[in-house]
Amino acid sequence: MKLSNIAQNWTRNKKNTYVKGGNDFDGFLRLDIGEPWFPLTPDLERTLGNLSVDDFKKRPDIHCLKLRNAASKFWNVPAENIVVANGSDQFIWLLPRLFMNPADNAIVINPTFFLFSESVTRVAGKVISFTTSLSNKFEATEQIISDVINTANQNSVKIIWLCNPNNPTGSAISLDKILKIVKNTSALVIVDEAFFDISDLTTSESALSLVNKHTNIVVLKTMSKTFGLNNVRVGFTIANKELTKILEDWKLPFEVSHIAQEVGSVVLNDVVHWRKMKQALLTERDWVINKIREIKSIELASPTKTTIFLIRKNEGDIFKLLLNKNILVSNFNICKGIEDMGFARITVKSRAENTKLISVLKKIDDCVI
Ligand SMILES: Cc1ncc(COP(=O)(O)O)c(C=O)c1O
Repeated sequence: MKLSNIAQNWTRNKKNTYVKGGNDFDGFLRLDIGEPWFPLTPDLERTLGNLSVDDFKKRPDIHCLKLRNAASKFWNVPAENIVVANGSDQFIWLLPRLFMNPADNAIVINPTFFLFSESVTRVAGKVISFTTSLSNKFEATEQIISDVINTANQNSVKIIWLCNPNNPTGSAISLDKILKIVKNTSALVIVDEAFFDISDLTTSESALSLVNKHTNIVVLKTMSKTFGLNNVRVGFTIANKELTKILEDWKLPFEVSHIAQEVGSVVLNDVVHWRKMKQALLTERDWVINKIREIKSIELASPTKTTIFLIRKNEGDIFKLLLNKNILVSNFNICKGIEDMGFARITVKSRAENTKLISVLKKIDDCVI
């Protein structure tokens, strides 16, 4: 079978990613996966226990009404501004298909989530890259913002990707800067807030307040990070009514299973549990960061607003050193914008897991291993 030109081009240019799936690393301490370690809520345990055969046989509600109503309360946006899909990856994949033609341009600020660039190349679009620097703590500076705006206007850029807080650096972009881009370009600005709800950022810093005021912005959310429920595969796009209608029409029917909709609704309705868990996560993050700061040969790349961050060692490859001790972190040596800089991404997990990490890092520091 002959692949289409677009598929051939993408296959040729496909880059390796840091994502490791499957069972290859069974028995390893997995600090590579960006999901937090939220325990299940009591309500969710009860819901799972009460599932019947009918729940597995039912056709899912294609409009996900119950889930959208729960999301509407959780994020305080009208349900008509919310679309649900099989993980936010699905929207990252879909949005370029809807708004880009082959050879159209999109802007990505690296280092960031690899799927932004990949989904553009999958529609034969072109990625214009900007790079934040270690010396600026990986922040999108005013200079970068104004360069992004100029470039977008000069090259009829169709999509600008922003990630807040950013994966993998944990750095934030202010609402003022996002607004500046939205107001001064006609590109669709996609703000991925996957890590927002497990971060130090407050509601007033979210781009959600912009979606009903501007036609060229959408915000992405995901249950994978907000509640640590990666396997439920539920992601959201929050946008103005016209855009949500387009997305709702385009996405595949029955994409979100009945079980996922039930699970999602129960979890979103338990704000008290989410608040408690978020607080515990951020407290744990502070504990890990403080411990890492005490280890001389380990460098923390930048302060993080969320539960992921980059580290490296003054000598040697931290990814390999940890791998040798059965700890898997994400190798960001291949990530655009920080190639070959020796960074690995750590995800904050439970105290027991974090203690193990710190103890191995100390041994590495002492050259005991
Ligand atoms: C920034 C960012 N956005 C989106 C996703 C994908 O989330 P989902 O599991 O909802 O597809 C990830 C997953 O790692 C991510 O890091």
